[in-house]
Amino acid sequence: MADGAVLIVGGTGGLGRELAAHYVDQGREVIITGRDQDRASSIASELGGKASGLGFDLAHPETIAGALEGIGDVDKLVLSAIARDNNPVREYDVASAVTLATMKVVGYTETIHTLLSRLSDESSVVLFGGRAKDRPYPGSTTVTAVNGAIATMITAFAIELAPIRFNAIHPGIVGDSPYWEDKPLDAVLARTPTKRLATMQDVVDATVFLLENRSVNGINLYVDSGWLLM
Ligand SMILES: NC(=O)c1ccc[n+]([C@@H]2O[C@H](COP(=O)([O-])OP(=O)(O)OC[C@H]3O[C@@H](n4cnc5c(N)ncnc54)[C@H](OP(=O)(O)O)[C@@H]3O)[C@@H](O)[C@H]2O)c1
Repeated sequence: MADGAVLIVGGTGGLGRELAAHYVDQGREVIITGRDQDRASSIASELGGKASGLGFDLAHPETIAGALEGIGDVDKLVLSAIARDNNPVREYDVASAVTLATMKVVGYTETIHTLLSRLSDESSVVLFGGRAKDRPYPGSTTVTAVNGAIATMITAFAIELAPIRFNAIHPGIVGDSPYWEDKPLDAVLARTPTKRLATMQDVVDATVFLLENRSVNGINLYVDSGWLLM
């Protein structure tokens, strides 16, 4: 087994937590993060195994280095945290937009910067974007922009920080994820060729593939049941 932990930034909820459960089941040391230390520790206890929790706020990137001081070697780094920003331009909320843009563009990068000496040449990193990059909706300006940024950031990281591998995953709407499970999704299904939305397990499988396949680098992987084909 590779040396070092699996660190999932945004591992206290949703897809990040599901991925954490996968690596806990594999017997790996898993560190999950969210904004609050106590919540992160309590969710790590629920996950069991060799899971531990850490609290820091990606929207305050200057605090990230201090928060990660106690972390040792990292084999796999996953950046999946999100704060939703449904932000129509006509009623633009600057603070909400700044939070999301800071988290995903600066916060994700500062996390990588901070951990560089603890990553090895065999380490790999997966960043989470999303299909709002290509299928915008009213209010999605910041989400569309940051997901587009993720798609290009991985290519810059993969060149500058080689041989560490960097890939991105862009889910469509994940029907059984906590954010979507109680929302009406008939219109989305109608435009999905398979008439089946991606599941959390599908996203976990795809993320594990990106993290572990040693020839996959600089890839934007879409897990959306072909949503953009219709
Ligand atoms: N769910 C989907 O259908 C879908 C579709 C497309 C793309 N995605 C992408 O997949 C990723 C995961 O989505 P999800 O739906 O699983 O998310 P989620 O359930 O909303 O979980 C969000 C995570 O981000 C953390 N977080 C929120 N604000 C933070 C901050 N300021 N600093 C640090 N951590 C923060 C949360 O931790 P605490 O609450 O503990 O602070 C939690 O762990 C996101 O990047 C999203 O863009 C998801």
